[in-house]
Amino acid sequence: MPKHVVATAAEIPDGGRKLVELKGRPVAVFNVKGEYFALYDRCPHEGGSLCAGKLTGLVQSSGPGDYQLTRQGEILRCPWHGWEFDLRTGRSYCDPRRMRVRNYAVSVQPGSQVVEGPYVAETFPVTVEGDYVVIEL
Ligand code: FES
Repeated sequence: MPKHVVATAAEIPDGGRKLVELKGRPVAVFNVKGEYFALYDRCPHEGGSLCAGKLTGLVQSSGPGDYQLTRQGEILRCPWHGWEFDLRTGRSYCDPRRMRVRNYAVSVQPGSQVVEGPYVAETFPVTVEGDYVVIEL
């Protein structure tokens, strides 16, 4: 799977987010307590931008008057109609069996590894003939 460098780690601090474009697709990248997540930036309901959504937690209850808020910051609420998605899986809490948004694997790599890695810029032979610079493509 091709890898794409989308930001420095400092560009997306804890609690931050960044909208990037990869192969023509909008992708929202989130940092939650130092852990990074990436989701396709279109809500499967009606296409709202998930990057503009509110991060919240998961509320669980075993009965009336009893509830716990867990996984703070890992549940993303779409800004248009409030559908909620799990940042880890992309699954919707409205209809978890059928509805989900695509998620992507994210890692943080040291700059030296990124430079050495499989990221190779495309190069072309260049020659100078008289007064003109000619690029062979
Ligand atoms: S577009 Fe996201 S909940 Fe409707």
